[in-house]
Amino acid sequence: MLKLSYFSLIILLFSCSSIKKQRNSDSYNEPYRPQIHFSPKEKWVNDPNGMVYSNGIYHLFFQYYPDSTVWGPMHWGHATSKDLIHWQQQPIALYPDSLGYIFSGSAVVDDNNTSGFGKNGVAPLVAIFTHHDPAGEKQKRNDFQNQSLAYSLDEGKTWIKYAKNPVLKNPGITDFRDPKVFWYEAQKKWIMTLATKDRITFYSSPDLKSWTKESEFGKEVGAHGGVWECPDLFALEDNGKKVWVLIVNLNPGGPNGGSATQYFLGDFDGKNFTSYDTKTRWLDYGPDEYAGVTWSNTGDRKIFLGWMSNWLYANLVPTVAWRNAMTIPRELKLSHVQNDLLVTSLPVAELDNIRLNSVSLDNVEVNKKLDISSKVGQVSFPCKIELNFDKPVDFSIILSNDLNEEVIIGFDNSKKHFFIDRTHSGKTDFYKDFAATHFAPRFSDSSTMNMSLIIDVSSVELFADNGKTVMSEIYFPSQPFNHINLQAPASTQLKKLNYSNLRSIWH
Ligand code: FRU
Repeated sequence: MLKLSYFSLIILLFSCSSIKKQRNSDSYNEPYRPQIHFSPKEKWVNDPNGMVYSNGIYHLFFQYYPDSTVWGPMHWGHATSKDLIHWQQQPIALYPDSLGYIFSGSAVVDDNNTSGFGKNGVAPLVAIFTHHDPAGEKQKRNDFQNQSLAYSLDEGKTWIKYAKNPVLKNPGITDFRDPKVFWYEAQKKWIMTLATKDRITFYSSPDLKSWTKESEFGKEVGAHGGVWECPDLFALEDNGKKVWVLIVNLNPGGPNGGSATQYFLGDFDGKNFTSYDTKTRWLDYGPDEYAGVTWSNTGDRKIFLGWMSNWLYANLVPTVAWRNAMTIPRELKLSHVQNDLLVTSLPVAELDNIRLNSVSLDNVEVNKKLDISSKVGQVSFPCKIELNFDKPVDFSIILSNDLNEEVIIGFDNSKKHFFIDRTHSGKTDFYKDFAATHFAPRFSDSSTMNMSLIIDVSSVELFADNGKTVMSEIYFPSQPFNHINLQAPASTQLKKLNYSNLRSIWH
C-alpha cells in the first residue's frame, strides 16, 4: 500500500490547490467564450427559465445539462445578478425526478402567499415548469409533458418540489409546455400562458395549484413553420394605453431559418387574447435569438433575454468547455411606424457601466473604406459601436482577422434591409447552412438612421433605428477578430461614430 509521508501529503495538497486555482483563472478565457454575455462555466445550456426579480437580485434559471456539452436530461441551472450584466453562477436549482426532466418555465414572487407555500411572513418564490417524462415520450404516449411547481423560501437558494405535482395535467397534446405565469391584478388571479403545439392556451388560477382553461389563441394566425414554444404575455404602455404583447417562440420556421421569436399585439381581458391583426412580427431577425421571454416582477420595465443560438446547430457549435450563451438583456418598448405599432428592443442601460475609454466623433468621412482603429486607436473585443447617419445609405461594418475571415454587418439602401454575412467567418463546416447571409427589413421611415452594435468575441447583436430592427448572430473565427473596417460609397458622411471597449464581466 502506498505510504505518504506528512511532507509529501502537504506537497500533494498544495499542488492540487494550485491546479484548482489555475483552472479557475483559466476559465471564461477559452476560445469563443463570451465576455459580456452569460454562459455557464461548463456544459450545456439552452433556454432562459424562471427569470424573476426579487429583493434587488435578478434571477436567471436556465435549461442545463451538467454532464455534457450536448442536450440531455434537463435541470434548471441558476445564476444571479445585481445589474443584469455581471452574473454569478449558483448551485443547480432543480434536478430531474421520477416525473421527468425539468423543462422550461417561469417563476413568480407570490407576495400574497396565495399558494400557502410561504412561512413566517416570507413570500415564496414559486417556479412553474414542465415535467417532461422521457419514458412516456419513448412509449409514444401523448401526455408526457405536465406542469409542476417548486418553491423556495430562501431567495432561490434551495427549492422544494410540490408534493402533489403535476398541477396541470396533459389532456393529450404531445407539445404541452413552457408555462409563463403572471399575476393579473384586475381580476386577482394568476394567468398561465402555455405553448400547446400549434397554439397558445391560457389558464387561470387563484393559488398556482389549481388551473382552469380560459381560452386558446393562434391556430390560424402567425408563423407555423414549426412547433410553438416558450410564450410570454405582458402589457406595454402606448401613450397611456395598455397594449398586450404575446410572445411566441417558434422552432423551426424563423425568418432566417430554424428557431426565432415572433409576437402579436392585442388586448387581454383575463380570459381571451385578441390580436389587433394577423401579421407575423419578429422580435429579432437574426438566426441566434431563441426562447426569449421577460423577467417577472420588474414593474413597468420589461426586460427580455433570449438564448443566443439556434436548434439547427446548437449541439454542434465548436466550443469545448461549455455550449451556448444568452443574449444581452434588452428593454422592450412600443414604437409607432407609419400606421403600425412595433416592439423595439435595446440593450439595458446597465450595459453602459462596463464601457471603457469611449471615443465619440462627429462628421466622420468614410471614403470607401475606413479602418476604425485610425480614428479610435487599437480596437478590441468586446466592444460597442454606435453609428448615426443623416440619411439611410449603403454601409458595412467588417469584423476581420489576419486570416481574412470576416463577418459583415450592414445596410442595403436599395433593398431597404439590414444584413449580417457570416459566409467567411471561420469555422462554419459543423453545419451545412451556417455559412450564410441573413436579412432583416428596415421598418423605420425616418429620414435619419442609426445602428448600434454589441460585439463580443463570437457574436454580434445589431439594434438599428433605436431597436426597431434587431439581429443576433454568432460566429467562430479560427483566430480572434482584431480589425474593424467601415465601408461605404465614396465620401459617405457619418454624422456620429461612438466606439467603446467593454470590460469583461468575468475578469
Ligand atoms: C425550447 C425548448 C422548450 C423546452 C426546452 C427543452 O428551446 O424546446 O420548448 O421546454 O427547450 O430543453
